[in-house]
Amino acid sequence: MKTRITEMLGIRHPIVQGGMQWVGRAELTSAVSNAGGLGILTALTQPSPQALAEEIRRCREMTDQPFGVNLTILPTIKPVPYEEYLDVVIQSGVKIVETAGRNPEPYLPALKAAGIRVVHKCTSIRHALKAEKIGCDIVSVDGFECAGHPGEDDVTNLILLPLAARRLKIPFLASGGFGDGRGLAAALAMGADGINMGTRFMATREAPVHDQVKQQMVDASELDTALIFRTLRNTSRVFRNSVAQQVLEIEEREGETEFADLAPLVKGEKGRELYETGDMERGVWSAGMVIGLIDDIPSCDELVGRIVDEARLIIQERLPAMLD
Ligand SMILES: Cc1cc2nc3c(=O)[nH]c(=O)nc-3n(C[C@H](O)[C@H](O)[C@H](O)COP(=O)(O)O)c2cc1C
Repeated sequence: MKTRITEMLGIRHPIVQGGMQWVGRAELTSAVSNAGGLGILTALTQPSPQALAEEIRRCREMTDQPFGVNLTILPTIKPVPYEEYLDVVIQSGVKIVETAGRNPEPYLPALKAAGIRVVHKCTSIRHALKAEKIGCDIVSVDGFECAGHPGEDDVTNLILLPLAARRLKIPFLASGGFGDGRGLAAALAMGADGINMGTRFMATREAPVHDQVKQQMVDASELDTALIFRTLRNTSRVFRNSVAQQVLEIEEREGETEFADLAPLVKGEKGRELYETGDMERGVWSAGMVIGLIDDIPSCDELVGRIVDEARLIIQERLPAMLD
C-alpha cells in the first residue's frame, strides 16, 4: 500500500507501532520495522539518555529498516531530562520522532535542523491543528478507544478522523481501537494515511512482556478496560484489574483526589514488574478497548501481513462489489 505516510517515512505498510512505556524496546520495534511497518522505541523506558543511546544501537543491529523514538512529555513523579534524551536521538541519526503529552514546539527547531520527521500524538482536533501550525509533519489522532491517555473530551475515532480529514492538510495516522484489516480499511476510508497501534502489538510474540500478559489480552473482552485519573484530569485507559478498581474507589470518595493517595498503587516501577513477572495484580497497565478484538499471539510479521491482506481484500473485493 502506498500513502503519504509510507512515502514520507520510507516504510512498506501504513502501520505504526506507537510508543509504549516498558514495552517499546528494541525487540518489538525492530520486529515491526522488519515487518514493513514503523517500530518506535520509547525513550523514557530507558533509565537514562545513555541507556537510550545503547537501545538505539541495539535496535539498529536488529533491523536495517527505518524506526522512530517516542518522547512522552507528561507529568512524572521524578523530573525527566527531556533535552538530553532528545540530544541522544539527534546524535544517533534516528530520523523519526513521535512526541506526545505536551506541545512539542520548544523541541521542533532542533528536530527540524536535524532533518527529523515529527509525528505528534493528539487527542483532539484543536491540538492536531495546533501541531500542524507549529510545523509537525504528521499527527497521530488518538480517539477515546485508545490505551494510555485519551484526553478529557471522550470523542471516538468515528468523529475525530473525518474531522481530521476535513481540517488538516498534513497527513495523519488513525490511532486507538485498531487491530485488524477492517480497521485499516476503515481508517483509510475516513481519510487517514495509516494506522497507529499500541495494544494489538503488545500481544505479539516479540513484545517483551511476560506470556501471562499476552494471555490475559487474548482472554479479555472490550469491557475489560477502565479510565483512571479522571479526577486529576489526566485520564488513562488501563486494564481493569484489582489495582485499577482500587484506584477508582479512591477517586470516587468525596472531596478532591490527591495524586499522593494514588501514587503507591500506580508507580511506574510496579507496571514494569507486572510486565516482567506476569503478576497481573502488581500494578496498573495500559490497554485499549481493542483488547476485545485480540484472540491470538502472532509474530509482528504475521500480524502486519494479515492486516494488510485483509484491508486489501476489503478494498479490492467487498467495496467494489457494492457499486452498481
Ligand atoms: C502498554 C502501553 C503503554 C503506552 N505507553 C505510551 C507512552 O509511554 N507514550 C505514548 O505516547 N503513548 C503510549 N501508549 C499509547 C500508544 O502509543 C498508542 O497511542 C495507543 O496504544 C493507541 O491505542 P490502541 O492501544 O487502541 O492501539 C501506550 C500504550 C500501551 C498499550
